[in-house]
Amino acid sequence: MATVQDAHPAFRPSASPCGLARGAERMPEIVEMPASDTVSDADFKTAMRQVTSSVAVITARSGKARNGLTATAVCSVSAEPPMMLVCINRSATAESLIAESGSFAINFLSDQQHRIARLFSTSKLSAEERFGEGRWLSMATGSPVLEGAVATFDCKVVERVLSGTHHIYFGRVVGVTSLDQEALLYRDGSFRRLAAVG
Ligand SMILES: Cc1cc2nc3c(=O)[nH]c(=O)nc-3n(C[C@H](O)[C@H](O)[C@H](O)COP(=O)(O)O)c2cc1C
Repeated sequence: MATVQDAHPAFRPSASPCGLARGAERMPEIVEMPASDTVSDADFKTAMRQVTSSVAVITARSGKARNGLTATAVCSVSAEPPMMLVCINRSATAESLIAESGSFAINFLSDQQHRIARLFSTSKLSAEERFGEGRWLSMATGSPVLEGAVATFDCKVVERVLSGTHHIYFGRVVGVTSLDQEALLYRDGSFRRLAAVG
């Protein structure tokens, strides 16, 4: 590990931060930065554990088969047109269902739905066990949509990009629902809920 002197220029404190006179603002100490442009698997995972994310269950249906997975690699892409992306491990059961059907649904869970997050992240659990909890409906694409979820996005796949172990699916949003309630979060290996500050 290198000190800040070896860091990329973007991470070095400038002599005059934000254009202020020297000494007008104290720069926070940056402790260590990697000297090379590669990071270890362990360092990447340690950093990612500090990131708090909303928890979603991504679902898909192809014919009579349905399944899904708990996911935090979920992001809005654009509002016009409405687009979302999800990053799906190519070994996940639901991956082939998304590919076959050309559609998926994103279900952002409420803090009351943490058991569903566990079911959909327990390796290779059957669809019966996973969908046994909660009430599952469908919208335009037929992908399972969870009643009581904070927000749901019914999506048609418009693009798929291969990236390492994952496929990134871009979906055009064709249906939405939302409810004003507390979201389920994930950080440092635990499911959590929001607390107000101040
Ligand atoms: C909080 C959390 C977030 C996850 N995020 C993702 C994700 O974004 N993409 C992914 O492919 N797997 C993610 N996983 C892992 C899958 O939920 C897990 O591997 C699941 O068992 C896959 O389904 P399968 O067992 O039917 O293959 C996450 C797991 C947890 C607990």
